[in-house]
Amino acid sequence: MDLLNLCIKDEVLKAQVVHILSPLVIDKEKCGKLLDVFESELDKGLEYGLAGSSLQMENTFIPELLDGSEQGRYLALDLGGTNFRVILLELENGKIINETIEYYSVAESLRLGPGVNLFNFLAESIKDFIDKRDLASIKRMPLGFTFSFPMTQTALDVGHLVNWTKSFNCPGVIGEDVVAMLNVALDRVGVKNVAVVAILNDTTGTLVAGAHDSPDCAIGLILGTGTNASYIEKADRVIRWGEGTTREDNVEQVVMDPETGAFGDNGCIDFVKTEWDRQLDLGSLLPGSFTFEKYFAGKYLGELARIVFTSVMEQIRQRIPESLLVIGSLTTKDVSDILESSGKQEMVSDETSYAILKHICGILSERAAILVAFTIATFLNRMSRAHTVIAVTGSLYKLHPCLASRLEEHTRRLTKYNFTFQLCDDGSGKGAGLVAAIAQRLGNL
Ligand code: GLC
Repeated sequence: MDLLNLCIKDEVLKAQVVHILSPLVIDKEKCGKLLDVFESELDKGLEYGLAGSSLQMENTFIPELLDGSEQGRYLALDLGGTNFRVILLELENGKIINETIEYYSVAESLRLGPGVNLFNFLAESIKDFIDKRDLASIKRMPLGFTFSFPMTQTALDVGHLVNWTKSFNCPGVIGEDVVAMLNVALDRVGVKNVAVVAILNDTTGTLVAGAHDSPDCAIGLILGTGTNASYIEKADRVIRWGEGTTREDNVEQVVMDPETGAFGDNGCIDFVKTEWDRQLDLGSLLPGSFTFEKYFAGKYLGELARIVFTSVMEQIRQRIPESLLVIGSLTTKDVSDILESSGKQEMVSDETSYAILKHICGILSERAAILVAFTIATFLNRMSRAHTVIAVTGSLYKLHPCLASRLEEHTRRLTKYNFTFQLCDDGSGKGAGLVAAIAQRLGNL
């Protein structure tokens, strides 16, 4: 699929549209600059965190992956989107032999209401899951909690929320230890046998779940509602290990959560920011934050395409279909469908306008592929492994018709190391159970 071909006959109009859209093109020079800035922000983040960089570079306190000795039953929670999942994993010799998943939908009133209500809801869902399966009689169930928001960690089972992202904004949680909040809620609903032994991010969960399937896995990537990628870093490069903590001598490596979604919040990549990106940010739930994520993640790509389209149509003095004047009327799923020429044809019946809309979806998707590729290539270059598996999941990655192939092609261009992207469905949830098992093995109980 050629993402960058604008199929309209009128050459003058074509040139005009191409010119208007040129700020969205990431050429070789901008790409080189992005690579340099990312690497430098990464190093500054490892030393100072958010005090010196837009990349938080948070230590996950996971120094090892599965070693094949993990046994038993573990609970896992996965919170980050509009669905909350509770999972029961049964492990034998480090392998998952049984898995039970239940989904609980998180209403908007919970995503935006007081934090206490959200945590009570999580605890009640766990209680429901346990009661339905007669698990209450088990003496102690270790639980891993995937909480897909930026956190400050000082241990594997301590995570203070830095800020909300995506579609959550519950008052009373920023700065708090979410494990402690969950424990209080579990106590309140009378769940006595669950021990929260690990808190982690979805990218970390995906990395660990990826390693369950392929030992070469060292990167976990999420391209969904939000975006982020964690990777394995040499411990001696992690200068800011974690407030009030020191690294144990035998720890050689550790999984790091960079929070790439916030890359550029300090203005360091404003050279790729367009007026349309600014407009999207201003209309978002949390303006001024998560710059990188707002360039392409699933929560934003559709709306961005709509903003760009209406602006182009205005500039070329064409009629904008009324339905597309409505905020949120174009979803990221629509972007995928339009690229396959099946979406929104009823809304944009004029052939030229449809071709322009399709072209905008293509340009934004190509920009997305390049932006993700240079972050992944940077990790591959830093780790210098002979072969790395990148475990990846998320609705954007799975539903987009060609993002995966464009991402692979651009990544290949930017690194000399071998790699394989591997879809890891449900990795964020499964990974939480696996991390709980690793925690148990490491004696973090
Ligand atoms: C947002 C969150 C981050 C998460 C990502 C993908 O960027 O802040 O923690 O990993 O979304 O879900």
